[in-house]
Amino acid sequence: MNLPAMADPRLNVPAYVNNARLVAWVAEMVALAEPSSVYWCDGSTAEYDRLCAQLARAGTFKRLNPALRPNSYLALSDTSDVARVEDRTYICSERKEDAGPTNNWMAPAEMRELLETGENALFKGSMRGRTMYVVPFSMGPLGSPIAHIGVELSDSPYVAVSMKIMTRMGRPVLEVLGANGKFVPCMHSVGAPLDAGQKDVPWPCNKTKYIVHYPETRQIWSYGSGYGGNALLGKKCFALRIASWMGRETSNSLGWLAEHMLLLGVTSPGGKKQHVAAAFPSACGKTNFAMLIPPAGFEGWKVTTVGDDIAWIQPGADGRLYAINPEAGYFGVAPGTNDKTNANCMASLKHDVIFTNVALTDEGDVWWEGMTETPPAHCIDWQGKDWTPAIAKETGAKAAHPNSRFTIAATNNPALDVDWDNPEGVAIDAFIFGGRRSTTVPLVTEARNWIEGVYMAATMGSETTAAAVGQQGVVRRDPFAMLPFAGYNMSDYFQHWLDMGARINELCAKSGAKLPMIFCVNWFRKGADGKFVWPGYGENMRVLKWVLDRVNGGGEGVEHAFGTSPRYQDLNWTGLDFSAAQFQQVTSIDPEAWRAELVLHDELFKQLAYHLPAELTATKARIEERLAA
Ligand code: OXD
Ligand code: MN
Repeated sequence: MNLPAMADPRLNVPAYVNNARLVAWVAEMVALAEPSSVYWCDGSTAEYDRLCAQLARAGTFKRLNPALRPNSYLALSDTSDVARVEDRTYICSERKEDAGPTNNWMAPAEMRELLETGENALFKGSMRGRTMYVVPFSMGPLGSPIAHIGVELSDSPYVAVSMKIMTRMGRPVLEVLGANGKFVPCMHSVGAPLDAGQKDVPWPCNKTKYIVHYPETRQIWSYGSGYGGNALLGKKCFALRIASWMGRETSNSLGWLAEHMLLLGVTSPGGKKQHVAAAFPSACGKTNFAMLIPPAGFEGWKVTTVGDDIAWIQPGADGRLYAINPEAGYFGVAPGTNDKTNANCMASLKHDVIFTNVALTDEGDVWWEGMTETPPAHCIDWQGKDWTPAIAKETGAKAAHPNSRFTIAATNNPALDVDWDNPEGVAIDAFIFGGRRSTTVPLVTEARNWIEGVYMAATMGSETTAAAVGQQGVVRRDPFAMLPFAGYNMSDYFQHWLDMGARINELCAKSGAKLPMIFCVNWFRKGADGKFVWPGYGENMRVLKWVLDRVNGGGEGVEHAFGTSPRYQDLNWTGLDFSAAQFQQVTSIDPEAWRAELVLHDELFKQLAYHLPAELTATKARIEERLAA
């Protein structure tokens, strides 16, 4: 044990900390970033309340009216720091090929020089005048065989309190880590050191941003942003980018998967419970789907949430895939959420919420576009300016930023699944992949088999949203909804899915279990009037039920070039007025549009040619033949 570091008063190491590697790393980072103090988060409620009060005093948080929104806060970010920065996100693997063509790459030594070792390295003195928070966290239930531990060092108290909600955080994690346990080191600085006497701003950040991953050494470095996906390093950085690399590289020969997927349970009126994992790109309704309330016509059905954004999935000895939600909270998109679209979410937001970049009403509560039919007569918008419906009409100004967020504990959710914290995870019966496509892709298609399902997921396209900085509404290929999150070469990632399928198939053959079936959905087809045709939200239960019918060996459908889809008469329409003509609008397959779509698949495959699995090109050829026939 490195006793001098343990005893160094500047490090403020609590007596319960016994992991020498952790203390040595904290000492190293303190020497680099030169914070004025170090604070070790214990994860207690008292600590959370204290830090929130501190954030309120500093002007980062505004405490909301406790009579309307108890124990809740609003943070307004710097207007330049509102979303993930994909063009500033790097996978610094030793070999460029291992990051692949869809990730930004820089040689690790070069990046380290820029961040840590060079004369003007960004992290040198980057925490001056600030406190460094030591935030130990577990991704996954404490002690679960599927979970992993990380420690984030951050100069942002907003990050510390958000991590308390989003992860299992604090002293109990260090107890599980013990003296010799391993952790993923995550270094975060907003990049805004304070000179002696310099007044702070409510949302410190830096216009230079780097979100960096060293996958071989499992390290994360994030500089310049306080925004969720860039700064809460357990989420996208660890639970997706680093974890996806770990899942392929694991010494457990079966490997595992880290996926941008919600996890839900569905219980039938007869009491049969099944689980579905579903991947959608950011801001495409994962939280809404995970909290779905079955509509009229589905009396007795129950949908429960295991997770709303990320799933870690491991094969069991029986060949079934067992999944956990590595997170403990939801960092969801606020606009569009209301009592009709997601009543469970609205109920979850009643208390103990951190809102970011929504509007503040005159009553001291929050509002966002779509929250109520009638907007408030006046509020303060996400940029701190006066907002009225008249101003909005004249200038187009939004009261809430389109990527404004809520942060809540999973335990706020009235539809929380009983197994959400089960260390063994839940067994997956079906995978669903869905993009946001106003044309071309039908409402739901079942893949013929695992390989064709992998093809569907690999070639998925989606219109971009406000979750990432950049142009919105442009169709881009977003394989497996993992384009911004795969921590290694995308084609190797496809191969890993194919290999996992083959391995679990063998195990299933022995145990009699079934490989999960794979489906592709699209809730977002638009009519000639530019409006969505499919009502979505709770009505997605109609599709979910068909998916489970197919898994259970029932459910009718019609086979076509891509797989099997239901006909109008194959879905339950009780309680919904949706005509056969409307159904045709959301399910029709236009061969011309598909020929154009396949050209885009071709372009993707050209981009991903290095290590592209031959099964995928063969599948494409088969689809083309079927389409021609
Ligand atoms: C998210 C995202 O925040 O995908 O979950 O951007
Ligand atoms: Mn996400």
